[in-house]
Amino acid sequence: MNILQDWPEPIVRVQSLSNSGISKIPDRYVKPPLERPSINPFSVDGNIPIIDLEGLSGEDENFRANILNQVSVACREWGFFQVLKHGVSPQLMDRAREVWREFFHLPMEAKQLYANSPKTYEGYGSRLGVEKGAILDWSDYYFLHYLPCTLKDYNKWPALPVNCREVMDEYGKQVVELCGRLMKVLSINLGLPEDRLQNAFGGENIGACLRVNFYPKCPQPDVALGLSSHSDPGGLTLLLPDDHVTGLQVRKDDNWITVKPASHAFIVNIGDQIQVLSNAIYRSVEHRVTVNPVEERVSLAFFYNPKSDIPIAPIEELVSPTRPALYTPMTFDEYRLFMRMRGPRGKLQVESRKSHK
Ligand code: OGA
Ligand code: NI
Repeated sequence: MNILQDWPEPIVRVQSLSNSGISKIPDRYVKPPLERPSINPFSVDGNIPIIDLEGLSGEDENFRANILNQVSVACREWGFFQVLKHGVSPQLMDRAREVWREFFHLPMEAKQLYANSPKTYEGYGSRLGVEKGAILDWSDYYFLHYLPCTLKDYNKWPALPVNCREVMDEYGKQVVELCGRLMKVLSINLGLPEDRLQNAFGGENIGACLRVNFYPKCPQPDVALGLSSHSDPGGLTLLLPDDHVTGLQVRKDDNWITVKPASHAFIVNIGDQIQVLSNAIYRSVEHRVTVNPVEERVSLAFFYNPKSDIPIAPIEELVSPTRPALYTPMTFDEYRLFMRMRGPRGKLQVESRKSHK
């Protein structure tokens, strides 16, 4: 059975809908009342923690311990934080975002060359999930693989803008390096040897992919979402948000907090695979994206994932008689099928994976 052959309905580019100048959005994009951004739960003021990583690799032990502690608190209490002085070149971050803004402003024919299918999701897409009649999100995206090398295929990366491949190659390299450093911090904070979490991800053979999100202007931002509430299915996500338009909201208890991005920061969040590996010491957190009537928004979500064909289960050292394993093993290949079939569904998937003992 291959249910992921093709989309159940003809694809409509949200950007084209937005550009057509409609003042009322099609019913397919209207969320049921309880999911609308204006209603429930409330949006409150505040921000996720901001952590300066300079000094993480330095000599000063106290300074380093302080950074580790800030990350530890952020992982436990938020599952989301921003990092500054993280080692990725600020100019490269700007260039990466600009390259993709340019891509989405190419004529539709140029983008359609990369139209994706639900089989691998690689390329230019406009929906997540293949359920016929589903209510859709107000966004288009581009999805590509960066690692493992066997899945990295330049033919599936845009040829235009001309420097896209080159910029994204270097961007991927620097972001993967940062992810490797963060993995060590998380591992140490879990009381494990620094390489333990990375090894549980499959060591050298991890996966990494990029989803560039494009949120066109929306004439009815009160009833639509750019991306419905979800937790990220993978390991660790590093998000490069738009530099002048907000939209990402993170769930904190019963509220939604709108993230205010710091200049040249990455937004880091814990995905479901780290929730599973850490036996829920760290939890992935629900987030969503609102849309804007006058501004479009671009973001780059880089997903650092475990090797896709190894069983992922709570790390042995984090399992004890008083804290038994909360999850049964599953490969990431198998796990990600849920999102690929059903689209974003809050924390439904990871919660339903609990082992029942
Ligand atoms: C994602 C995501 C947030 C954003 O791509 O998984 O949560 O701000 N993106 O675009
Ligand atoms: Ni996400």
